[in-house]
Amino acid sequence: MALPSVQACIADIDAHRSQVLAHPLGQSICPDEVREHLAGVPRRRFPSVAYAGRGRRPCIQPRGGFPLYEAQYQLTQQLSAAGADFIPLTIDSYTRHNQYDIATQLLHRSEEEGKNYLNGYPLVSHGYELTRQMYRGLDKPVSLRHGTPDARLLAEIALASGIAEIEGGGICYCVPYSEGFPLDRSLLCWQYVDRICALNSTPERPIHRESFGPLTATLVPPAIVIAIEIIEALLAAEQGVTSFAVSFGQTGSLAQDVATAEVLRKLTRSYLDELGFEAVQNYLVYHQWMGEFPADRERAAAIIACSTMVASMVDADKIVVKTVDEALGLPRAEVNAQACDMVAYVLRTFQSAESVTSPLIQRETALIESEARSILDAVLAMPGAAFWESAFRAFQLGYLDIPFSPHADNPNQLLSMRDGNGSIRIAAPGGISISDEDAALERELLESREDRADKTYQQMLTDIRVMV
Ligand code: 5AD
Repeated sequence: MALPSVQACIADIDAHRSQVLAHPLGQSICPDEVREHLAGVPRRRFPSVAYAGRGRRPCIQPRGGFPLYEAQYQLTQQLSAAGADFIPLTIDSYTRHNQYDIATQLLHRSEEEGKNYLNGYPLVSHGYELTRQMYRGLDKPVSLRHGTPDARLLAEIALASGIAEIEGGGICYCVPYSEGFPLDRSLLCWQYVDRICALNSTPERPIHRESFGPLTATLVPPAIVIAIEIIEALLAAEQGVTSFAVSFGQTGSLAQDVATAEVLRKLTRSYLDELGFEAVQNYLVYHQWMGEFPADRERAAAIIACSTMVASMVDADKIVVKTVDEALGLPRAEVNAQACDMVAYVLRTFQSAESVTSPLIQRETALIESEARSILDAVLAMPGAAFWESAFRAFQLGYLDIPFSPHADNPNQLLSMRDGNGSIRIAAPGGISISDEDAALERELLESREDRADKTYQQMLTDIRVMV
């Protein structure tokens, strides 16, 4: 099997880069100087090196972004001291939406008044010269966390800052987040990001990409997550990326978490190999619960502790951490550092010696694998000049469908609910191409549930707010 055309990508990346870097906030970037800078960044700041040294313990990744440089610097130091293995740089919403002027204005106001008028670090406004300084002396990778459909300039500035991990992707940072940003455009913008990551990589220092598997974090069936994660891994590999993490969010069902991890890891490797990308290193990232959190801090701590056990059980390469203030707003640095410390404590105290299985988990694994393969094979079999076009058209045809997505191009035909074990089931498959047997098994498992509410929407609300 081969992807439709590896050539059908950005025709002239140099010309395209010159256009992007002509932006007033990108003009000082010189691609050759950036490559030189990255060649001098310590290898321990590259995820492949951090992952190679993790032993059997997942790496710890918090999130965090403040508008002011000094606050971000302090956060970086505090998280690192509390046991974070990856340092976050979470970007504010205006920058995510390419509204750099507003981000710059609000940054100035934050500086003048000493208050936070932005919900993250406005990297494009701060620029790479200043941001580079933040990481001087740091011996762990920095991860760019955002949610940007057009991250071309942002990624250029991140790489110029010495950041070696970029989260996101053409589907996962578009369909779950925006209503109106065209999906085909997002896929092309992410092709650019993948390509510049590849161009800035060397065998010793590969720039790492990570997809965002939680998607809408709302009753997304694991097979859909797996199909989309693998599509994004293939899209990145096609552009020359050699270090890539697929991820998924805690489902709310222990059996399904264990099964999802196993299938996601296995199928990512298998599709990459089958399509000629044997050289791509693949990693698995587990996100602590991405849905609604309880406001009660003890309960929030319980989710954080228990999900850390799951990450250990599935031997995730990395766990992305929430804080006890998740329901209340953005966490203060101390609260964020406490969360890292709690996760480090659980990981060292309750190490999982062996992977766990059971008949229930085995049945779940077989079903998810069969469904994910059917969905993926349908997308891969689509005729088209380029693979990104297949991914785009798959949404139009209903082959891919993300529950609760606000995006205009999402089919919204697939319905999902929880079964008696709390696992996410496909109640109505819409246009996704799973076999009749798998669809029948999904329905059968759903019917096993005894505590059904009278009204479908009531049932769904209960299923969505399962942790609250
Ligand atoms: N600081 C800390 N955490 C953040 N998140 C988003 N922005 C920030 C920030 N500036 C986290 C929240 C949110 C998740 C998607 O990312 O936990 O739920």
